[in-house]
Amino acid sequence: MTLKRPLIAWNRRKIVYDATVLSLAALFAFGHYAFAAMTGLETGRPAILRALGATAFALATIAILIGPAARLAPKLFLPVLYNRRHLGVIAFLIMGGHVGLALTDPAAAPLIEDFAAARLAGAIESGSAFAAPFRLYGLAAFLIFALMAATSHDFWLSRLSPRRWKALHMAVYAAFALCLLHIVAGALQTGKGARVLLGTAGAAGAVAAVIHLAAASRKTPRRARRKRMKDWLDAGPADRLAAGAALIVRLPGDRDAAIFRTPEGLFALSNACSHQMGPLGEGCVRAGVVTCPWHGYEFDLRTGRAPAPYTDRVPVYAVREEGGRLLVKSTPD
Ligand code: HEM
Ligand code: FES
Repeated sequence: MTLKRPLIAWNRRKIVYDATVLSLAALFAFGHYAFAAMTGLETGRPAILRALGATAFALATIAILIGPAARLAPKLFLPVLYNRRHLGVIAFLIMGGHVGLALTDPAAAPLIEDFAAARLAGAIESGSAFAAPFRLYGLAAFLIFALMAATSHDFWLSRLSPRRWKALHMAVYAAFALCLLHIVAGALQTGKGARVLLGTAGAAGAVAAVIHLAAASRKTPRRARRKRMKDWLDAGPADRLAAGAALIVRLPGDRDAAIFRTPEGLFALSNACSHQMGPLGEGCVRAGVVTCPWHGYEFDLRTGRAPAPYTDRVPVYAVREEGGRLLVKSTPD
């Protein structure tokens, strides 16, 4: 009998995760509102609008940072990465509250006025991205987040294929940049709390850039060099791969293989999990089986197959040690 993978369903861990995120978000929004009220900045509707915007932005920033952070310190951050899609959807729902309040504000000009040709031409003429109506940046970001939230379910993952789904969800970086423009341009154009806002947006952008660069420098796989023997590639000195560890190697065609050294010998699998392309090389290996660090799919190191009754598998590469070097085959078995 074969079984299709069940969709990652609701479970106790997910409920605790969502409840924690919602409680922390409520605390943050309340703190934001209380600060604005106590310092005499504003109260009521405008303060709620800002508190919701700031909370949604904080959650979106965490959702973006959690991937690279988990690569740098897996023990600490993998539990947060586990349900990142829910984090993104919660951020989107809070964003919806912010956008709803902004668009129904009787004191604000209708959004359509931001599209006026004269305003846009003036912004282009000024040559500054911060001169364009800040609400339009927010609108563009919101539409991207809406598309991602709508396709976040595993149903769309299997309809679109993991590769296309992942490419679509890379748009989160464009949405994040648009949010930063929305916040900075908004602060400059309205002059309200400009210093705090500019500081926050600058800090979030800088932290995101630094963590991504640090994680990328760790992750960048070694590019295997071509050896004389056809199809076998040199993955570097064998002593680089300690017992119980994995080494990620870039193969021709921009594929990554993960080479594992276990008590049973050397094994190499595609580094991309068949579920959502999670990094198998960062997974835990027990009894010849690697567990994907993202959602726990398992694969036999010898065959690349998931344990029965599941039928999915990842490509397996031949690997061997010769003259103190690791050699991996460039095409899967
Ligand atoms: C149609 C879409 C949107 C509209 C019309 C809109 C409107 C506004 C308005 C009117 C403000 C107050 C600006 C000021 O007085 O300085 C604001 C601030 C803000 N918005 Fe939006 N927004 C939109 C989308 C978004 C999105 C997608 C995010 C992402 C999280 C976002 C995050 C923020 C943040 C963080 C602030 C500053 C809050 C603070 O003062 O701490 N907005 N937005
Ligand atoms: S990416 Fe979800 S289990 Fe591997």
